[in-house]
Amino acid sequence: MKVLSVVGARPNFVKIAPLVDYFKNMVIVHTGQHYDYEMSEIFFKGLNIPRPNYNLNVGSNTHAKQTSLIMSQFEDVVIEEKPDIVIVVGDVNSTLACSLVISKMSNIKLAHIESGERSFDRSMPEEINRIVTDHLSDYLFCSTKDAANNLIREGIDESKIFHTGNIALDNLLKYRHEIENCVTQNSYILFTLHRPSNTDYCETLHSILKAVNEISRNFPVLFPIHPRTKSRIDEFGLQDDINNMNIVDPLGYIDFMKILNEAKCVITDSGGIQVEADYYNVPCITLRDTTEHLYTVRNGNNILIGNDISRIKEAMSKFSEKREREENRNDGRTAERIYNIIRRI
Ligand code: UD1
Repeated sequence: MKVLSVVGARPNFVKIAPLVDYFKNMVIVHTGQHYDYEMSEIFFKGLNIPRPNYNLNVGSNTHAKQTSLIMSQFEDVVIEEKPDIVIVVGDVNSTLACSLVISKMSNIKLAHIESGERSFDRSMPEEINRIVTDHLSDYLFCSTKDAANNLIREGIDESKIFHTGNIALDNLLKYRHEIENCVTQNSYILFTLHRPSNTDYCETLHSILKAVNEISRNFPVLFPIHPRTKSRIDEFGLQDDINNMNIVDPLGYIDFMKILNEAKCVITDSGGIQVEADYYNVPCITLRDTTEHLYTVRNGNNILIGNDISRIKEAMSKFSEKREREENRNDGRTAERIYNIIRRI
C-alpha cells in the first residue's frame, strides 16, 4: 500500500513525526505554508523527520489564494505518485486543501488524524478546516472520546471513527529523557501569541501585550515570538509593550517542551500548547473564548479568558483549586495504533 502524508505548518510536523517510525516508505509532501527555518526545518531536524519528497513552496497568502495554490499543485503530485491512501493532520489550510483534492479522486482514501476536534466557533478558520476535512475523510482518527462523540453527533458513520489517542503526545514519551532532564527552577511564565483575532487588531494586541509586560515586571516572562506577531508589533509600533519581556525566536520542539514543562504557568492562544501544558500539569491561561480541548478545562489545568486580559491575575489564583484529572494522558502508542488500523485496510 502506498501512503502519502501532507504537512504544511508548524503544528503538523509534530503530528507526522511519530508516523515515520511505522510508515517507512511514506511519501511526504510539504506544502510550504510555513517556510522560515524556525517554523519548519528545525522540526524536521529535531524530530528526525525525513526530508519531504516534495515541497510545493506556496508560502503565505490570503486564505483562498493559499488554499487554491496548494490544491492545484498537490493534484499534480497525487496524479504522479498514485497513492492508495493520503494522511492529513490537524486543521491548517494545507489540511483542508489536500483533503478537497483527494475527495474528488475516487480511488484514493483519505485519513484524518486529530479528527473531531471542535471549538464550536466558526469564526476560527481552523474550525471550518476541521469540519470540512472530517466530512470528506474515509478514516477519522480521534485524540479523545469528546472528539469521537462530536463526529457521531454530526452523523458520521461510526465504522469510520477510531479513538486512537493524541499523536502529538507520542513525541513527549519518545523524547521524555531529553525533555524532562532539564531543571530551570520553574521561575518564569511562558507566553505565546499568534492567532489573527489577537494579533491583527492594534487595540487588542496592545492591551494583551501591555498586561503581560506589566506581569513581567514581577515575574520573568519568556516570549518565543511567532513571525506574524513580530510583524504586527513592528507595524503598529508596539515595541514598548514588550520591553520587559525576554523575547526569543520561535523554538524547536524539544527546547520548547523543556521550557513548557518547567514553566510556572503558560499564557497562550495556541491549541496544541493547551494539551501539552495539561500533560505536564502546567497551569494554562488561554487567550480565547472557546477551546477544542475542553477536557483540559475540566482537568482544572486550563482557564479561558478570551482577550479580557484583566482576568489574568484572577485566573492564576484559581489554579490552586485542583480537580480530579480525566484520563487523557497518552501511552505514546497512538502512531502504532493508527498504523495497525491502516495496515488492515
Ligand atoms: C497557521 C494555522 C494555525 C496554526 C499556526 C501555527 C491556518 C489557517 N492557520 O497560522 O491554525 O495554529 O499556523 O503557527 O492554517 N509567516 C512567516 N514565516 C513562516 C510562516 C508564516 O513569516 O514560516 C508569517 C507570514 O507573515 C504569514 C503569517 O506569518 O502571513 C501567518 O502565517 P499563516 O501560515 O498564514 O498562518 P499562521 O498564523 O501561522
